[in-house]
Amino acid sequence: MCGIIGYIGNENAVPIILEGLKKLEYRGYDSAGIAVMNKDGFAVAKQKGRLSALEAFIESHPLTGFAGIGHTRWATHGEPSDINSHPHLGSRNKIAIVHNGIIENYRQLKERLEQRGITFVSQTDSEVIAQLAEYYYNGDIMDTVIRVVNALEGSYALGIMSLDEPDKLIAVKKDNPLIIGVSEKGNFIASDVPAVLAHTNQVFYLNDKEIAVVTGDSVQFYNTDREPLQKTLETVTWSADSAEKGGYEHFMLKEIMEQPQILQDTINSALSGGDNKLIIDSLDINRFNKIVITACGSAYNAGMVAKYVFEPLCRLPVEVELASEFRYKDAIIDQNTLVILVSQSGETADTIAAMREAKRKGAVTLSIVNVVGSTIARETDYTLYTLAGPEIAVATTKAFSAQLVLLYILAVRFAAKRGRISPPKEKQLLAAIASLPGKVATLLKQTDSIQKYASTCVGYKSIFFIGRNIDYAIAMEGSLKLKEISYIHSEAYAGGELKHGTISLVEEDTLVVAISCCERLYDKINSNVEQVISRGAKVLFIGNCIKATPNEKLAIIELPEANELFSPSLSVIVLQLFSYYVAANKGLDIDKPRNLAKSVTVE
Ligand code: F6R
Repeated sequence: MCGIIGYIGNENAVPIILEGLKKLEYRGYDSAGIAVMNKDGFAVAKQKGRLSALEAFIESHPLTGFAGIGHTRWATHGEPSDINSHPHLGSRNKIAIVHNGIIENYRQLKERLEQRGITFVSQTDSEVIAQLAEYYYNGDIMDTVIRVVNALEGSYALGIMSLDEPDKLIAVKKDNPLIIGVSEKGNFIASDVPAVLAHTNQVFYLNDKEIAVVTGDSVQFYNTDREPLQKTLETVTWSADSAEKGGYEHFMLKEIMEQPQILQDTINSALSGGDNKLIIDSLDINRFNKIVITACGSAYNAGMVAKYVFEPLCRLPVEVELASEFRYKDAIIDQNTLVILVSQSGETADTIAAMREAKRKGAVTLSIVNVVGSTIARETDYTLYTLAGPEIAVATTKAFSAQLVLLYILAVRFAAKRGRISPPKEKQLLAAIASLPGKVATLLKQTDSIQKYASTCVGYKSIFFIGRNIDYAIAMEGSLKLKEISYIHSEAYAGGELKHGTISLVEEDTLVVAISCCERLYDKINSNVEQVISRGAKVLFIGNCIKATPNEKLAIIELPEANELFSPSLSVIVLQLFSYYVAANKGLDIDKPRNLAKSVTVE
C-alpha cells in the first residue's frame, strides 16, 4: 500500500522516479506525486488519479532535479486529492517526505504542532512527519530523523530530503518495506525491488529503525543511537524483463501464462536441490501435534486447499485461520504447533502480526513467501520461497499456484516423515506433483473455449462457485478472483450447503460455476448441479470426472486427469482465465482493480 521511490545521482531524477513509480503503481493508484531538489529549492508536482495524470501534468509543467522522491498513494487518511498526495513538505518548504504506512499518534503530534503555530494543509497522517521534521531540524538531518522516529507511533517507510543538506536522501522504516538500490549512476530508495530493477540488481534490505543516508555515490547505515551499521549488499535474481508486460495486454494474463515455468522452478527447488529442499528435509515434523496455516485473501485460500491435502496424508489436525482474526483470537498454540504463514509479498500487515503472535506463544513458524528479504521471510524460523518472480497484477495468480505446489510437497514429505505413507506412495505422489507444470501448459494452450464462455458472462450481477471437499477450497479462490477484478458479486459455497440457505438466491439464469475433480464425490456435486439447473440456473461445470452431457443450461470445461489432492492446480487455471476474460470483456482495469492494492501493509 503506497509505493515510494527516491533517487540521487548524476542524472535528472524526474524520469527515473516516474519510471520507478510505474513499477510501484500496483501498491496504490489513487494519486501520485514527486518532489525534486534543484538550485531553486524544491520543485513539486502532485496529481489525483493514476500516475498517467501526474505524467501529463509534468509534461506540461516540466521539472528537473538531481535528487528526488516520489510516491504513489493508496489513501488511508484523507480522500484522494492533489493536496493529500505525497510528497508532503513542512510549512517552511525545507523538508520533503514520502510515507508508506499509518502514523497512529498523528492527531496528538498535529495538535502539539498546531499549538506552536504550525499550519497543516492536508488531511493526511503523513504531513505530520514533514512538519515535525521541520520543527525539529537543527542543521543536522540525521539528528532530526532520529527525533522524528522516536516520536512516531505506527508504521512507516520514509524517504526524506532536506534543502539544507541537498547531497543526501534519508530512508528509514518500521513495519513497512524499504530497500536501497546501488548503481553506477546513482543510488535509490524504494518500496520494492521492481522499482529499481531497470538500473540495478544490487540492493540492501533495510530493517526496522535502521537509517540509511544515501548520497549519489555512497550509502551508510546507522541505528537510532547514531552508531554505524554494517549491512550486506545482496544480488537480486529477478530480471528487469520480469517486471515488464512482455507484449501482453495485462500483467495478469502474462502472469497466468508464466505458470508452467514457475511451477517447474518451484517444484525443482523443493525436490531436486536448492534451499527449499534443504529446509523441507531439515524440518522435524514429528515434534508437532498440530499445524496452523494463517494468511490473507488468496494466500488464505491456498491454506484452505492445503488443509485438504495435509489432513488425509499426514493425519495431523490442520487449522486454517485468517491472519486478521488469528492475531486477536488468543490462539491455542504452543511449541508443539507448526504455524505456516503464506504470503506473496511477505509484508501483509495482518500476516506479520499473526506471525509475531505465533512466535510470542512459542510456536515454530514456517513461511511460504515470494519476496526475498521481506519481513515475514526474515522473521520466521524457516522460509520457503515461491519462485514466481515479481508479481505485478494486483490479483495474484502465479504466486498462488507456486504456494500450492510448495504446500503439496510439504504435505507429502511430512506424511512420509511421519510414516503415514510408504516410500513408493511418496514417490508416486511427488511424481504426480512433478507432472503438474506439463498439464498446466496443456490447459493454457486451450484458452479459446474459456474466453468464449466468459464473453457471455459479463451481464451477471452475481455468480456462485460450488465444490465439495478440495474443490470447495479452490472454488473460494475462483470466487475471490472473479469479484476482485470483474466487480461481479460472487460467493463460494460447499455444494452440500446450498440447500441450507443459498439456494433461495438461485433463480432463472443465475450462473453457478461448479468444480468437480473429486471423483468419489462426483454424484454429490452433480446432484447440486441438477438442483440449481432445475431452479433455472445455468452451470459452468469444470472438472476431470464429469459424466454429464452439455446442453443449453450446462457448459463443461474438461481438465486433464490429476490426483484429486493436486487437482486445484488445474482448476485454478480455468478459474483465473474465466475471471480475467470476464473482466477483459467488461473493459476493466484488470491489473489495478478499484480500491485494491497489492501489498496490504496497513491493518
Ligand atoms: C487476491 C490477492 C489478495 C492477497 C492478499 C494477501 O488476488 O492477491 O487477496 O492474496 O492480500 O497478500 P500476500 O500474499 O502478499 O500476503
